[in-house]
Amino acid sequence: MEGKTSGFMNVLNFLRHAFRAAAPEGADPEAFAAAVRASGEPRFGDYQANGCMAVARQRGVPPREVAAEVAGRVVLEPLAGTPEVAGPGFLNVRLHRSWMEAALGERVRDPRLGLESLERTQTVVIDYSSPNVAKPMHVGHIRSTVIGDCLARVYSELGHRVIRDNHLGDWGSQFGMILWGWKHYRDESAYAADPVGELARLYRLVSGRIAEGEALEKSYGKLFELEAQGRSAEAEALWARRPPTETRSREEIRQQVEQARALAEAAREETAKLHAGDPEARRLWHEFMPHCRRALDAIYARLGVRFDVELGESFYDPMLADVVEDLMARGLAVPSEGAIVVFLEGAKAPMIVRKRDGAFNYATTDLATIRYRVETWNPDLILYVVDHRQSDHFKALFEVARRWGYTHPRYEHVAFGTILGSDRRPFKTRAGDTVGLESLLDEAVARARAVVDANSPELDEAERARVSEIVGLGAIKYADLCQNRLSDYVFDWDKMMALTGNTATYMQYAYARIRSIFRKGGVDPERLRVQSPAVVLGHETERALGLLLLRWPETIEQTASELKPNLLTDYLFDLANAYSAFYDACPVLKAEDEAIRASRLALCDLTARTLQRGLDLLGIEVAERM
Ligand code: ARG
Repeated sequence: MEGKTSGFMNVLNFLRHAFRAAAPEGADPEAFAAAVRASGEPRFGDYQANGCMAVARQRGVPPREVAAEVAGRVVLEPLAGTPEVAGPGFLNVRLHRSWMEAALGERVRDPRLGLESLERTQTVVIDYSSPNVAKPMHVGHIRSTVIGDCLARVYSELGHRVIRDNHLGDWGSQFGMILWGWKHYRDESAYAADPVGELARLYRLVSGRIAEGEALEKSYGKLFELEAQGRSAEAEALWARRPPTETRSREEIRQQVEQARALAEAAREETAKLHAGDPEARRLWHEFMPHCRRALDAIYARLGVRFDVELGESFYDPMLADVVEDLMARGLAVPSEGAIVVFLEGAKAPMIVRKRDGAFNYATTDLATIRYRVETWNPDLILYVVDHRQSDHFKALFEVARRWGYTHPRYEHVAFGTILGSDRRPFKTRAGDTVGLESLLDEAVARARAVVDANSPELDEAERARVSEIVGLGAIKYADLCQNRLSDYVFDWDKMMALTGNTATYMQYAYARIRSIFRKGGVDPERLRVQSPAVVLGHETERALGLLLLRWPETIEQTASELKPNLLTDYLFDLANAYSAFYDACPVLKAEDEAIRASRLALCDLTARTLQRGLDLLGIEVAERM
C-alpha cells in the first residue's frame, strides 16, 4: 500500500484535475473542473461533477449524452471507478472503499493529516485588527481580529510565509481630541490610577460634545439660516415645530453649536500640531502610547492573537511627503481645487492624497504602507481584514497602487459585516454605549463557567476556571467565524454556547469525549499512530466519517483560497456530526474483534486530532477533560 495514495491527498484537486482533462467538447475546462464538488448527500455519491448541463445547453444536445461521453473518458483510478450518470446529467463519483482505507491508514501516521507540502509557497501580508488606539477596544474589533488571526493560521498551516501586521491607527484625529481634553480637563490622579481609562474618558468627553453639536446643527441649521437671512416669520414657524422635549432656548442652542464647532477646530489644530512636530504634542503622544499599547497587548494575549509587526500609521508619517511627490512626478497625482488628488475611472470622487490645508490622510498612509510592504517583503498577496464600509477606499487604493507600479501583489479586501444586538441594530449596551471588548470577554467566561459547572462537575475548581476561559473565548470566536463573513449577525449568548449545534462548545465536548475513550480503554494514542492499524470501513457510518476525515486538506486549501473561515467551521460541524453517528452505531472499546477495535480507535484518534487542528486554526483551544 505504501506510496499508493500519496500525491492524491487532496481528493477534490485530484478529481478536478481528472475532470479538467476529460472536459467535453465546447466546455471551458476550468469552469468544468470548478463544477466538481463534494456532494451534500450520500445517495448522490461522494463527489459530483455538475458541469455537463451547461455544456449540453450550449451544444443543444441532451445533457445525459454529454455526461455519458465524459463518464466514458474520465480516469479516476486509483481513487474511484467510472462515475455514474444520474438525474438530468450529473456525474456521481463514489470513492473505492479500498482506496479510502489505504489513504486513512497513511493519515493515521501523518502529523499533517494529509496536507502536502507546497511546491511554491507565497508571501502573504495580513493587515488585521488595526484598531484606532487610545479608545478602548470594543465589540466591533472582534471581527477583524479573529478573522485575520484565523486566515494567518490557515496560510501558515499550508506552509506559506505569513507576515501578520497590526496597522494601528495611532496618528489620527482621536489624538487631537485627547490632547485638547488633556490640556483642559485632565484628572491627574485618575490618570495615575488608570491611564487608558482616563484617556478614554477625555476622548469621549471631547468627541461627545463635537458629535452633539453636529447633531444640533443638523436639526436646527435651517432655522439659523432663515434667521440670518432675516426671514423671521419662517424661522418662527420652524421653531414652533421643535420637539416637545426641547427645553433649551434658541440662543442656548446656537451657543452650543458654536462651541462645538470651535472645539472641533481646536482639536483639529492639536492633531495638526502633533503631525507638524510640536514638541509638547509629541511628548504627550510618546507618553500616552505605551499605555495604549499595553492595554491592547493584554487583550491580544488573552485572545491568543499575536503579530509579527505592529507598524501603525505613525510609522509611515515621515514617508508621506515623498509619496505625494512621487505620485506627482509620475503624473498620477495632480493639483485640484487646492488639494492633490488622483483621478479614478468610474469612481464617485478622486482619491485625495493631500488635503487643501496641506495635511496627508488615511489614503496617503495606506499608499506609503503598500510601498513599504512591497520593498520590505515583496509579498504575493496582501489581505486587508477591514469592515465592509471601507470597500470604496480599498477599491481606489488597489487601483492607485497598481497604476503606481506595485503590480506584483494581489490585493484583497477581506470585508465583513456588522455584529447586531437582538433588536437587529448594531450591538450596544442597554445604556446605548458600545460594548467594551474586555467586559464582553469577561462575560463570556462567566457564562461559560455556568455551562462547565453544570456539565463537568467532576473537575476541580482550578480546572473548571481554566476550561471556562477556553469555552468562553472559543464560543465568541466561533460564533463570529462560522458566519458568512459578509453578512451581519446577531450576537446571541445562548446560541453560541449551546452544547449541540454549530458551536465551539459542541466541538470541544466532542474532542474531550474522544480523549476519554482512550483513557478509559487504557490506550495510548501515540502508540496507536506508530502501530498504524489497518482501517476498516465496514459500517456506513464508518465510511461517512472516513470520507470527511479525508476531506481535511481540501477544506484547508479552500478556506485559504476563498478567504472564508466558515468553510472550516462547516467542515468541523459535519465532522463532529459524522463522528456522533458513528459512535452511536459502532461500539469502539467493545468492538467485535481486535482488528475492528483498533480500526475504530484509529478513526476516533484521527477525528480528535482533526477537530483539535481545526479549532486551533480558528484560534480556539481544547481541553483534555470537560
Ligand atoms: N484603523 C482603521 C479603522 O479602525 C483600520 C485600518 C485598516 N488597515 C488599513 N491598512 N487601512 O478603521
